Amino acid sequence: MKQVLVRASGLTKHFKDRKRGWIKAVRGISFEAHSGEIMGLLGPNGAGKTTTLRMLATILKPTTGTAVIAGHDVVSDPNAARQSLGFLSIDTGLYQRLTAREMISYFGRLYAMEDKTIERRIDELKDILDMSDFFNRRCGKLSSGQKQKVSISRTIIHDPPVLILDEPTSGLDVLASRNIVDSIRSARDQGKCVILSTHIMGEAERLCDRIGIIHNGIMAAIGTRSELFDRFETDRLETVFLRAVDEAA
Ligand SMILES: Nc1ncnc2c1ncn2[C@@H]1O[C@H](COP(=O)(O)OP(=O)(O)OP(=O)(O)O)[C@@H](O)[C@H]1O
Ligand SMILES: [Mg+2]
Repeated sequence: MKQVLVRASGLTKHFKDRKRGWIKAVRGISFEAHSGEIMGLLGPNGAGKTTTLRMLATILKPTTGTAVIAGHDVVSDPNAARQSLGFLSIDTGLYQRLTAREMISYFGRLYAMEDKTIERRIDELKDILDMSDFFNRRCGKLSSGQKQKVSISRTIIHDPPVLILDEPTSGLDVLASRNIVDSIRSARDQGKCVILSTHIMGEAERLCDRIGIIHNGIMAAIGTRSELFDRFETDRLETVFLRAVDEAA
């Protein structure tokens, strides 16, 4: 039975910007995502995807509304929510002086994992993400694709039930993206709930079980690929995207 692992309820986020005044980055987003499901968020630049994901990941406090991650409320119990999720963002930092292995192990210790478990997980991740070539090299000397693999590993070292990934394959070559996409699929197959944002339509189509289209801080449309195709009377995701954005404008 599918379990609801993420429930966002009326999330809003307003930023005060010195030049632009109050910005309503997210204006009321609610949705559910389940175990064994990859949910993709698509939307134009500035639509509110990253802000939404940051609220789910307890990095940003919602202005109003809340979300529940694996039973833990992000506003009233952010620490418990954080233990149940892994968050990957574009600017997920790595310590330049640590090797890939040391970096991942360091995060395992931050999550209070036992040394033995950390070692076992590290070996698994090294294989899944094909990292043996550079595993003992310092992070400062890695290519962007290699860094992204280390960042993903540090995000999932504690084996959380919920993964929140902001543009996980952005800037990667075909091979590195494929590795990461495979690891996302394998997380889904293990029953995890993955929420990711992407600008790559083909990736959203191939990878995501359900897709949400965010525009101007609201969820303009949400559903499986075929539900969206039916609703927007097309068989192309790009057309769904354009029509949903148009409707929500
Ligand atoms: N810390 C902040 N202070 C002020 N405004 C912000 C802040 N963070 C985001 N915004 C604004 O909120 C809006 C939504 O930004 P967000 O980063 O969530 O968009 P996005 O959908 O992730 O876009 P992209 O596809 O370009 O990554 C934008 O107008 C952005 O300028
Ligand atoms: Mg973004």
